[in-house]
Amino acid sequence: MKKIAVMTAGGDCPGLNSVIRAVVLSAAAKSMEVVGVLDGFIGFCEGKYMKLDKKTVEDIESLGGTMLGSSNKEAPFRYPSKTSPGEYEDKVEWGVKNLKKNGVEALMVIGGDGSLDSARMIDEAGMPTVGVPKTIDNDMVASDPTIGFSTAVENVVEAIGKLKTTAYSHRRVMVVEIMGRTSGYLTLHGGFSAGADVILLPEIEYDLSAVAEKVKAIMKGGKRYVVVAVSEAAKEVGGEEVVSRIVADSFESKRYGGVGAKLAHELEVLTGHEARATVLGHTQRGGAPNAFDIMLGAKLGSYAFDLVVSGESGVIVGVEAGRLTKMKYPKTREARLLDVGKDDLMRTARDMGVFFGVS
Ligand code: F6P
Repeated sequence: MKKIAVMTAGGDCPGLNSVIRAVVLSAAAKSMEVVGVLDGFIGFCEGKYMKLDKKTVEDIESLGGTMLGSSNKEAPFRYPSKTSPGEYEDKVEWGVKNLKKNGVEALMVIGGDGSLDSARMIDEAGMPTVGVPKTIDNDMVASDPTIGFSTAVENVVEAIGKLKTTAYSHRRVMVVEIMGRTSGYLTLHGGFSAGADVILLPEIEYDLSAVAEKVKAIMKGGKRYVVVAVSEAAKEVGGEEVVSRIVADSFESKRYGGVGAKLAHELEVLTGHEARATVLGHTQRGGAPNAFDIMLGAKLGSYAFDLVVSGESGVIVGVEAGRLTKMKYPKTREARLLDVGKDDLMRTARDMGVFFGVS
């Protein structure tokens, strides 16, 4: 094998550059060429690539984002037509042919569930692919944790730490809205580590009056403030998720947002304590990766490379209990949710008095 390609697709996260660097340096050690596909599936569908060598990846492992660019909208099997606006084309075959025309023999796709489903289609269309799982949501079946999750948890902890000092001064209820889509990992890990009093997850519908009573009890007990960590897709018993927008072209079209402001208002009315909402938003997945994500990115990148070189394809690499693993691309895409009955951190938090929204 002489030439391979690598791309990042879907929402970015810290640690992607470490994967790219691991692939490029591993390839350089075997005198192989590497092509970087630009801007996720935009580059795949439009033939936009760059040459990657030792020089281009120097020191990138400590940088956030992705040097190749990414997109969480375009999918190659449903790509917006250039000639007929408003219509879509299947560009999978074209993208495979164009990579082959450029001498590429295998492709590594670093992505979330949606992007790795596209990688499966590309694999089935004749370009061998290996998937590398990444997402701050930690909701992929292929790996626990996923690249980016650990840094995002630290970003959440740092932000809540800052909110606590001002909450203390003003005797306020601070509602913090945390990303993660339908999976509560980021809210649980970030909220717990930052000492949140109440943690509301998508996996457990919350009872608003019970949350209000808990807030009142904490304040009555002498604490000057309360931190409520709420997942962006958390919902009240019998209620609906709060959706901020629909991104029509996107594989996962729902974008969550707004539950924090709604809950802060409701808690202020129900408890009589002043409440404020903070949406941590994209700060959670921005900035430099921590050492864990640099190492995880490098391990998964070099493992994916080894598989590609040994002729393996149609698999996603990952870690399970700290060991490298691989699995076939799943046929269905389902987010991995917290097992709230079995999760060790949930049990610990419950034992320590953290309130999960239901009595
Ligand atoms: O999947 C990663 C993620 O950051 C989610 O936690 C969040 O809901 C979503 O992406 C935000 O998407 P966008 O960048 O399109 O606003």
